[in-house]
Order: sequence, then structure tokens, then C-alpha cells
Amino acid sequence: MTPIPRTISLLWALRSYCGSHQCKPCYFTWLDEQRVDRTPGLLSHFSPNDMPAKEVMAFARTLKGSAVRRVFLAGGEPLMWRPVLDLIEILKEGGLEVVVCTSGVALNQPGLAQRLVELGVDGASVSLDSTDPDYNDTWRPPRKEGDGWEGVVSGVKALLAARGSSAKPRVGLYTVITKLNLPDITAVPQLAADLGCDYAVPQPVALPQNHSLHDTLALTDAELPLLHAGFERLYESGLPLQLPPRTYPGQVASAVHQLTAAVDGCFGGDTLYFAEPDGSLWDCPSSLKMAATPAEAHRTIKGSDAAELFGKSSGCGNDCALFSVDCVNMWPLMDFDRVLGATNSGSPA
Ligand SMILES: C[S@@+](CC[C@H](N)C(=O)[O-])C[C@H]1O[C@@H](n2cnc3c(N)ncnc32)[C@H](O)[C@@H]1O
Repeated sequence: MTPIPRTISLLWALRSYCGSHQCKPCYFTWLDEQRVDRTPGLLSHFSPNDMPAKEVMAFARTLKGSAVRRVFLAGGEPLMWRPVLDLIEILKEGGLEVVVCTSGVALNQPGLAQRLVELGVDGASVSLDSTDPDYNDTWRPPRKEGDGWEGVVSGVKALLAARGSSAKPRVGLYTVITKLNLPDITAVPQLAADLGCDYAVPQPVALPQNHSLHDTLALTDAELPLLHAGFERLYESGLPLQLPPRTYPGQVASAVHQLTAAVDGCFGGDTLYFAEPDGSLWDCPSSLKMAATPAEAHRTIKGSDAAELFGKSSGCGNDCALFSVDCVNMWPLMDFDRVLGATNSGSPA
């Protein structure tokens, strides 16, 4: 039998609860923000319907031999969910690539970084929003003392030390850019390079217009010149890091300029899927697309078989009228062939 081509990336938000931080602009809304909002795809830190571990593992076993090639484990905080190592083991035994999207502080737990290396985790994207600890800890306040900026940086160091001279995992810093931290477009990648990381991704904050922090944080046309100059400096810096493709800053700028629009030839195409903690499966992580999906097209990974779920094209993949500011943050996910395949030699495509 001809093997199924493995072309799909699955962004899997594993848990709703986040044990590590209480980031103020988080995609996962806080309880008081959404008492009555039941929009499909709207994520909440409080969800009593997260899949039990047994069902998570059962679905994960079916990914072997499916069209899924790469799984991004996000959340909530995936590394603070106890069964996560068992899950990673199943995924790696199934021949999948695994990238952990983490706040980084769990990497300080004795033995955890070493275990991720042993399991063959392919990538770790660690969130750090600034080189300024005060800024970072204001907008990404840790739940526990010691889990702020210093804890994140020491977690990154622990993982790099555990990796030693091995090629895996590739380690990168992800930074949410707001109108208050534009210099971090270059400063955090510089820190990433100094630490010995392999990649860096500055991504624009995505906030609905009615969010209480929208006016304080969301980028506007007024920031476009600084945004442009920041990315220009970053690409010219020659840092020994993988950066998003050169076309990315233009997408960021257009998402800032016009929050919703039609996009020609969407980068996600039919190869990027998104699974929520309750198992809901979407053929695209754009909040507008999820909200527009008719109820009869809603699907779940719960009790499902991945070969069937991903067996035929979603039909997505061309021009999309439901582009939203959150889409642009998914774009760098599609660049991981390059990130995971690369040696630490820098230079964007
Ligand atoms: C939701 S977190 C989950 C994984 C993990 N707990 C972490 O802190 O990285 C995944 C990524 O989304 C980013 N993020 C969360 N809310 C965002 C928003 N409103 N706009 C842009 N990025 C956001 C986080 O900073 C992080 O880099």
C-alpha cells in the first residue's frame, strides 16, 4: 500500500487551564470576559470540557500513518499538564514531528529538559515578550514567584544545556509585539542569539476590537513606520537565527492596517488544522473562519481516527475572505520545514 503523504500541521491547544502565567492579552479569554459569548472557536481558560487524558492518548495513537506530519503542542501550558510526556512519546513513536509551544518555566523542573531531548522533541518555541523583565512580567504575569522573565530565560538555558551538541530540539523565542514594545522586534531576537537559540518570531498582538486592552496594546497605522523599521533592522542584523520569511512583515503590516480582508492564496491552505482542548477540530485557526463554519461541518478529534479526519482535503487552500489578525500569527507555523531542517546558520529565505 502506498503510504499517505504527510503534509499536515496540527496546532493542538491541549488544555484550557494555564498553570504558569496569566497573560493579559491571551487568546484564551478569562472567565469574566465571556459570560455569554459562545462563539464557536472562542477559547477560554476555563473549560470544563477538556478531553480527558485517556481520550487524548487514544486520538494521538491514531495519528501514526495519517496525513499529519507535525504537531504543535500549545495550550494553556502544555508542559505543566502531567500526561504530556506520555503524549509526546506516543507522537514520536508514531513518526510525527513535535514542537512544544511553552512559557518555558517548566523547563526548570529537574529532568524535564533532558527528557524532552531524550524523547526527540523537534522544536521548542518559548514565549518571551521583551528583554525588559518589567514589561514582560507586567503583560505575562507569572502565577508563581520565580516564574517571570528570569525563570523563562533560565528555562531556555536549561533546555539548551540539555540539548548539548545534539541537533534537536531547535529552540526559539516567540514575542508578542504591541504598541508598547516595538524595540523588542530586534531586541528579543538579539537575546535569542546571545542565548544560543535557533529561531525567533516577533508576532503582532491579536485582540478583538472590544477587548479592554485593545486601545492600549493593539498596533495601528501610527506604528507602521516603526514596525517596518524594526523588521528591516532585524533582517539586516545578520543574527545567526532563523527568522520568518521576508514576506512576513508585509503580512503583519496589512493585518494591522486592515483587520479583516480577503487574502489571496492563504498560506495555511489545506495543510494547517487546529484542535481545541475540548476536541473541536477546525480546518483553519482563523477565528473568523471558525465562527463562519456551519454547525453541520463541526468536527472533533474525540473518539475519531486521524486517518479518516485528515483523509481528504478540507477544500481550503485558495483565496479566503475570512482573513483575520490572528491568521498572521499562524503563518510562521508553516515555515517549520525550514526551522527544523536548518542548522543554526541564520539568513531568512
Ligand atoms: C496561548 S500560548 C500557549 C502556549 C504557552 N503557554 C506559552 O505561553 O507560550 C501560545 C502563544 O500565543 C501567544 N499569544 C497569546 N495570546 C495572544 C494574542 N492575543 N496575540 C498574539 N499572540 C498571543 C503567546 O504569547 C504564546 O506565544
